[in-house]
Amino acid sequence: MTTETTTTDERSQAPSMMAAPVATGLAVVPPAPPVGPGVESESDDKIDDEVDPARRPRIVGLRCRSCFRPEAVGPSFVCPACFGPLEVVYDREAIRAQVSRAAIEARAPGIWRYLELLPVDEVPARGLAVGSTPLLRADRLGAELGLAPGRLRLKDDTRNPTLSFKDRVVAIAAARAVAFGFDTLACASTGNLAGATAAAAAAIGLRAVVFVPADLEPAKIDHALSYGATVVPVRGTYDEINRLSLEIADEEGWAFVNVNLRPFYAEGSKTLAFEAAEQLGWRLPDVVVAPIASGSLFTKVARGFEDLVAAGLVEDRLVRFIGAQAEGCSPVAQAFATGSDDIRPVRAPDTIVRSLAIGSPADGRYALALARRTGGSIEAVPDEATSAAIRRLGRTEGVFAETAGGVTVAGLEQAVRRGLIGPDDEVVALITGNGVKTPDAKWFGVEPGAGSQSGGLVPPIEPSYAAFSAAGLAE
Ligand SMILES: Cc1ncc(COP(=O)(O)O)c(C=O)c1O
Ligand SMILES: [Zn+2]
Repeated sequence: MTTETTTTDERSQAPSMMAAPVATGLAVVPPAPPVGPGVESESDDKIDDEVDPARRPRIVGLRCRSCFRPEAVGPSFVCPACFGPLEVVYDREAIRAQVSRAAIEARAPGIWRYLELLPVDEVPARGLAVGSTPLLRADRLGAELGLAPGRLRLKDDTRNPTLSFKDRVVAIAAARAVAFGFDTLACASTGNLAGATAAAAAAIGLRAVVFVPADLEPAKIDHALSYGATVVPVRGTYDEINRLSLEIADEEGWAFVNVNLRPFYAEGSKTLAFEAAEQLGWRLPDVVVAPIASGSLFTKVARGFEDLVAAGLVEDRLVRFIGAQAEGCSPVAQAFATGSDDIRPVRAPDTIVRSLAIGSPADGRYALALARRTGGSIEAVPDEATSAAIRRLGRTEGVFAETAGGVTVAGLEQAVRRGLIGPDDEVVALITGNGVKTPDAKWFGVEPGAGSQSGGLVPPIEPSYAAFSAAGLAE
């Protein structure tokens, strides 16, 4: 790739980019890590640097994350040489020439306002309205945790069309499924993905078949059914369902959003980073706190920040990444705590946090590397703390999170308590799913009948003031 300086032509393409601070490097996090897992190396395969970057294709191809072998764009996800995961490669110079703050800001809300940073050629004709969820200032929660006013913000992804951030990843995978000519959209799900896949397929006009653990929360099974999907409960763990899905994808030729379309699916999580940075006024925060199941969301938010820096849209700075897992299924947190590089699979997850119950996380080693090299951590959260955090979040901020959100808030709390986050750090916590899908989780470990003015369900009363008063509710 050439290192030509900016031309007049580029300047006219990207007016506000010129006003943007100049990025000091491509990595969000110093020092530059050695090449290895989770490390971006600029690829110049297939980039025709004779062509003006403003007119070059943004999407170069796929590439193995382990051995960097290039692959053509297609519904493939594993490197034929070393079986490493594939990811999308972009021409960053072309993106920089084609995108600007002003162009993004002029567009309608939703994830497609960041089109140039996504692995899709054009905005899909059909699909759900995903993204542009609020970044809430959370002073009341922040104060309880010991953070200064204005320092804690919640990315409220409980408000996506199917009530979780999974709508983001599915939107990208579904757009690609259509482009590749698939007629069936499928997934292996821990719960939220099933609903997101079912709804996206409905909106586009594809058939949906979703595979979930047979003992999943009924609300999540029902949610997927609401969109007309075929729901297949499997008597097994998520990891077993994932293995089955690999076989079915191969045999049936279906588009499994998180299996054979995984390189595209994963890019969808970057939109959380794009939105958060734009909502902060085109700035990066000091700390991100996020839940980890496969580790895809966690690592892709970091990559999203790197992409913004590379595109000249935000200034480079250190962002510490703090991940959170449920103690009963916390392979990445355990490796972090012991200082090991070895992520030992959890064969039988034991937690109320079903949405994060992945015993063998595909992106676990990248998540571990990210937390380590940014000075972050991976927190393991007991179920009682998750439940208490769901209640605290609801009580202080009016946001009702599902278990993954409880894990995030409890993980944040732990990190503050351990001094990993200071009172003046600017923190963005990702609340990735809505509590209506896990209604019982908020009462885990709580004695039934606790009620009255601190909140809680009061036994039914007769319709009289005397009864109201007798119940101890009068002030
Ligand atoms: C609500 C919610 N948050 C976070 C995650 C974690 O996603 P990832 O597998 O990308 O780590 C999931 C995964 O299912 C989820 O359902
Ligand atoms: Zn490889």
